[in-house]
Amino acid sequence: MQTFDALPSADGLWTHLRQPDGASTAIAVAAGRIAWIGAPEAVPAEHAGAPRHDGGGALVTPGLIDCHTHLVYGGQRANEFAMRLAGASYEEVARASGGIVSTVRATREASEDELFASASARLRNLLAEGVCAIEIKSGYGLALEHERKQLRVARRLAEAHGVTVRTTFLGAHALPPEYAGRPHGSREYIDLVCREMLPALHAEGLVDAADVFCERIAFSLDETERVFQAARALGLPVKLHAEQLSDMGGAALAARYGALSCDHIEHLSQAGIDAMKAAGTVAVLLPGAYYTLRDTHLPPIEALRAAGVPMAVSTDHNPGTSPALSLLLMVNMACTVFRLTVPEALAGVTEHAARALGLSDRHGTLEAGRNADFVLWNVKEPAELAYWFGQRPVQRVVRQGRIVGDAA
Ligand code: NIG
Ligand code: FE
Repeated sequence: MQTFDALPSADGLWTHLRQPDGASTAIAVAAGRIAWIGAPEAVPAEHAGAPRHDGGGALVTPGLIDCHTHLVYGGQRANEFAMRLAGASYEEVARASGGIVSTVRATREASEDELFASASARLRNLLAEGVCAIEIKSGYGLALEHERKQLRVARRLAEAHGVTVRTTFLGAHALPPEYAGRPHGSREYIDLVCREMLPALHAEGLVDAADVFCERIAFSLDETERVFQAARALGLPVKLHAEQLSDMGGAALAARYGALSCDHIEHLSQAGIDAMKAAGTVAVLLPGAYYTLRDTHLPPIEALRAAGVPMAVSTDHNPGTSPALSLLLMVNMACTVFRLTVPEALAGVTEHAARALGLSDRHGTLEAGRNADFVLWNVKEPAELAYWFGQRPVQRVVRQGRIVGDAA
């Protein structure tokens, strides 16, 4: 396979591009950044003589951003899909020693190279659709060496594929099997997460943010707060799997810690929305998990919109509740199932997704100074990006200043 560094440079002047509002635009790329963007008749002299790349009138958008994934894991869980089809709930599957813990077993058994190979194959699907930045969580190791293995793979994926990766430590995803059944197992495990795992992995440069699964089948509000305190002591931003199955008050707690995002949020209350608005926390909507679990409790989209909380959209790729490898399908579902408008859904996989990862200074919009990450689409109008599903209308991707085809 061709290495990323061997791909052609995108440096030069990109002409004949169309913004989503119909305006013609040109983009000057230099050294992996957008050096200038504006109307074709206003190209500054310093860029006018640069090598030309003719966009052929294609629609251009910022590179897509998948801001919530569990991409690195061993095995798969099609058996649970069958159990749920036969009537079992996600919680029943989890309590029957399936669920997250079964992926933990498979992830612990896998070597770093095996995890890298399987995650690379999955990542290629996302990249081919125009994804230029992605978040990858740990949380299927649940022991220092195995969480480390997952996060190291995430860092290697960034290097090998030339894609921006933000790593999130999710040690508090589930109680590891060796702690289950102990009288104070949950407290002891959270001690380990806060005192050993998070500080050690942070010291190794493997952690960009911390997350918790705050839910009655996972960790309590108090345990969540302990992890947030440990993250704060290390200067790390926090995120939360919040109010997915019930209203735990997690979003309001996360907002108190200035969380970058609260994710899932099907059962989010108005108090949670108000707290997120005040803290500038992004609401990450995950229609793939909603769909896979055949959930019927919609996230409070209308109230989030009314409050002006920025909404992002992501795959939540994971083997249990969202085996989705198409961010554009999530855009479609965010519109059809969650009733987002097309501009809202597209902002959800660009500008607002960047904000959910703390990446707004370099990603999510097309502006001078941002990374040269953009996508040329084979569509006549932006609504087609939400309308089609099952095809990839990608003409060309520019990622980290390199030109990649649609099969990167
Ligand atoms: O985001 N909600 C918790 N975590 C994952 C599911 C993980 C799993 O079932 O393996 C999620 O949906
Ligand atoms: Fe998740």
